[in-house]
Amino acid sequence: MSKPIVVVGSINLDLVATTERMPAVGETVAGRAFQTFFGGKGANQAVAIARLGYPVHMLGKVGDDAFGSQLRHALEIAGVSATAVETAPGSSGVAVILTSNHGENIIVVVAGANGELQAADLDRHRSLIEDAGLVLTQLEIPMPAVERLAHITQSVGVPLMLDPSPAQPLSSALLRCLDWITPNESETRVLLDLDEGEAIPDVAHRAAEELLQRGPRNVLLKLGERGVFLALQNGDRFFVPAYRVEAVDTTAAGDAFNGAFAVSLIRGKSPKESADYAAAVAAISVTRHGAQPSMPNKDEVERFLEQQVGGDQ
Ligand code: ATP
Ligand code: RIB
Repeated sequence: MSKPIVVVGSINLDLVATTERMPAVGETVAGRAFQTFFGGKGANQAVAIARLGYPVHMLGKVGDDAFGSQLRHALEIAGVSATAVETAPGSSGVAVILTSNHGENIIVVVAGANGELQAADLDRHRSLIEDAGLVLTQLEIPMPAVERLAHITQSVGVPLMLDPSPAQPLSSALLRCLDWITPNESETRVLLDLDEGEAIPDVAHRAAEELLQRGPRNVLLKLGERGVFLALQNGDRFFVPAYRVEAVDTTAAGDAFNGAFAVSLIRGKSPKESADYAAAVAAISVTRHGAQPSMPNKDEVERFLEQQVGGDQ
């Protein structure tokens, strides 16, 4: 039987205002719409995986407020096992998101219950982690929890994929425990302490090499609508382009990508095939509004890929 994927991470309610254009600091602009969506980088990745038909467990925390039970229910409805989602006193995680007509976004995350995930919680759920085929995590939970997770996965030989978002510098000890690190452009800049003058797509090859030197076994740089650059431990280096679509909301494109990449890898596809599959899943997600509602199911992805045959990516 297939070993499940385990996602250890955040579960948020996204409060989304849509505007014609992003306001500058100190400026007020009129909003076009306001909506709430189920989100959180961890929960989004788990939902992406479940929609693609792969068994997945979520390990995280929601608050004991009204949002908490809704957030848990949304995971279950999507097909994510939420037995390791616990309730902490206080508010659930919330993300305040501005999206513009051009599909850009700005996000402020208030951790709430996500901030209560402790290293000891990882120890209590150790057997779930040990039985996983692959574990995914991000940085919207406290660093001690991420570090304990990495220690456990490393000691039992379960591969770990880190989406280093929101960006922050990482210890060598953590970097050495990673099978995959998947930063976007701004996260790459923070990890390597590069200044704004360095356009990451122009230096993707060098940036990926530098990241590899720091310990992760494989690096996948996410370059937005350009695609991704991969540097693998076997020496392979390649670029996989994004699909050309009309983006309306890029929120959680990276989560769609990571969830799909993980599913494809665990189903035995190569990193190159998996990055292409993940690019298709992420491309579909940006044509839809919201985080979790934008994640496509397996059939939708197959139809999308059939339509691309012979077309330009
Ligand atoms: P986010 O923080 O918005 O969830 P991210 O910053 O982690 O995403 P990105 O590099 O923006 O990651 O996007 C991940 C992948 O999603 C890209 O490599 C690409 O395949 C796909 N993608 C993102 N934006 C677009 C777009 N406008 N059109 C098509 N595909 C896109
Ligand atoms: O990656 C997108 C997610 O980031 C949103 O759903 C929001 O909750 C923030 O965590």
